[in-house]
Amino acid sequence: MSHVSQSYDFSNPGEAYAELARDLRALLQGEQDLVANAANTAALIYDALPGLNWAGFYLYKSGELVLGPFQGKPACVRIAIGKGVCGSAAAQRRTILVEDVHAFPGHIACDSASNSEIVIPLIRGNELLGVLDLDSPKHARFDSADARGLEALAKIFIDCL
Ligand code: SME
Repeated sequence: MSHVSQSYDFSNPGEAYAELARDLRALLQGEQDLVANAANTAALIYDALPGLNWAGFYLYKSGELVLGPFQGKPACVRIAIGKGVCGSAAAQRRTILVEDVHAFPGHIACDSASNSEIVIPLIRGNELLGVLDLDSPKHARFDSADARGLEALAKIFIDCL
């Protein structure tokens, strides 16, 4: 694959995410470095999905989430398990979709432009590796098709490590 940005047609989300999954596999193939793969995954997602203001990783280290590779504005560095949307997704080990972050108890505001968010936990076997976090200035930007598509991308990322 050429490393030039390409446009994905999200009027058909299933198709767009399938194409994105193929491109992510090609991008990560043969590389196991966590930081390099997380950086390229964040860049691909941020470039591909319309309407994002932040996309990136928090990695699980010594009992908390620590900021990893991302695209967007500088963000808070450490998040306790159970805190905010990221810490809740990590604690509950499930994807959390937030239509309105201002209505989410304990939401951690990193970029005041964010209005909706989706967080996918990264689990390998039984081990929590971190979370993939996407923010949008649009209300209710993410739906179940995004959850399924992003979970598939997260799996490709995890399987490459
Ligand atoms: N909003 C997140 C914090 C991370 S930033 O959005 C990049 C949360 O509540 O966990």
